[in-house]
Amino acid sequence: MADDLLFSPFPLKNFILKNRIGVAPMTRMSGGPGSIPRQDVLDFLVRRARNGAALVYTEALVTDYESAQGYPGQARLLTQPQIEAWREVVREIQAAGSLAIMQMFHCGRMAWPEVNPAHRAIAPSAVTPKQENPLTQKPYPVPEAMSPFDIDHVINGFVETAKGAVAAGFDGVEIHGAHGYLINQFLSSYSNKRTDSYGGSVAGRYRFAHEVIQAVHQVMPKDRLLLFRISNWAIADMKVSQFSDQTEYQQIVSLLNKEPLDALSVSTYDFQEPAFGSGKTMAALSREVCDLPLLICGKIYDRATAEEALQHADIILSGKSTLLNPNWVEDVREGRSLKPFTSDQSQVAYTTEPLL
Ligand SMILES: Cc1cc2nc3c(=O)[nH]c(=O)nc-3n(C[C@H](O)[C@H](O)[C@H](O)COP(=O)(O)O)c2cc1C
Repeated sequence: MADDLLFSPFPLKNFILKNRIGVAPMTRMSGGPGSIPRQDVLDFLVRRARNGAALVYTEALVTDYESAQGYPGQARLLTQPQIEAWREVVREIQAAGSLAIMQMFHCGRMAWPEVNPAHRAIAPSAVTPKQENPLTQKPYPVPEAMSPFDIDHVINGFVETAKGAVAAGFDGVEIHGAHGYLINQFLSSYSNKRTDSYGGSVAGRYRFAHEVIQAVHQVMPKDRLLLFRISNWAIADMKVSQFSDQTEYQQIVSLLNKEPLDALSVSTYDFQEPAFGSGKTMAALSREVCDLPLLICGKIYDRATAEEALQHADIILSGKSTLLNPNWVEDVREGRSLKPFTSDQSQVAYTTEPLL
C-alpha cells in the first residue's frame, strides 16, 4: 500500500532507514570565524530528527580554506573544534533514530573570494556565470582555470573533510556534484571549456568527479555511506540546462552507477517536471540507467507529492517544507493539508532569529 511505503523501512547498505523521508541539505550562513554554525542552527537539525525524518543532512560544508567557500558564514569540518561541535549534533540525531549525513562542496566559479582566506576563485575554465551574484549584486569574479596542482589540492580538501565527518561520527558523506558548483562545473560543457584530459568528451568532463569519488572512498570506513548529488539546474544561470540532452545526462549517471557509491541524490526544482523534452522526470531518467538507491528532491510538500515521488525513487528529501515547518514529517504522516513554501519564504534560513 502506498500509505505504508513512505513510512516503511528502507535498507541502505548496512543501515535500515525507519522511513523514506530525509531533510535536504540547506546552507544557513550562520557561522563565525571558526566555521562552526550557530548553536540554534545545529539544534534545528536535531529537532528535524526528533520529528521523525530518517535522514538528516547538514548544510554544504566547505572543503578547504583556500577557494571553496561561496557564501559568508559557511561551515567546515577540518579542525578539532569543528569536529567536536558536529560530534554532539550527530550523537543527538542518531539518538533520535535518524542517520546524519554530511554534505560537502567546493563552490568553484560561484566564488566570493573575499570570504575565502586565500581570496582565490578557481574553476575548470576562466568563465563566469552570466548572472550577477545575488548576494554581492556584482558580477562573479573571473576564476583562474585550475592547474593540476589546484586539482590535487581541491581533491585533498574533499578527502580531509570526509575524514572530519568520520571523526565526528557521521553515518555518511555526500559529495555535492549539483547546482552549478565546482564538480557540476567540470561535468557541464557550459562551464568546462578545458582542452586537457579534464575536459572535452563526457569521459573527460567526468574525470574530476571520478577522482573526487575515488579519493573520498579510500578514506570512508566500510560501515559508512558515500552519496553523490546531481542536478540539471544551477543556482546561477538557473534556466540553463547543465547537460546538453538526455543522452549526455544518462551517460553521466551511468558512469556514477559504476562508482563505489551507496546512493545517488537527484536534485530538481520540481520533481514532476519532465526533463530534456523526454516527457519523463529526472528521477525516471536516472532510474533507467542506475541501480543505486535514488533520493529525489524538489517541491515535495505533502503526502500525495511524497508518494508520487516514490514512484521512481527510494527516498524523498524535503528542503523548504522541513525548513519552515518543524512538524512536517508528522504532518505528512497524518496526511494533513499542506502547501508548498516559496523561495522567498525560505530566505528566513539566513536570519539570525532561531527557527523552530
Ligand atoms: C535555504 C536553502 C539552502 C539550501 N542549501 C543547499 C545546500 O547547502 N546544498 C544543497 O545541495 N542544496 C541546498 N538547497 C537545495 C535543497 O536541498 C533542495 O534541493 C531545494 O530546496 C528543493 O527542495 P524543496 O522544493 O523541498 O525546497 C538549499 C535550499 C534552501 C531552501
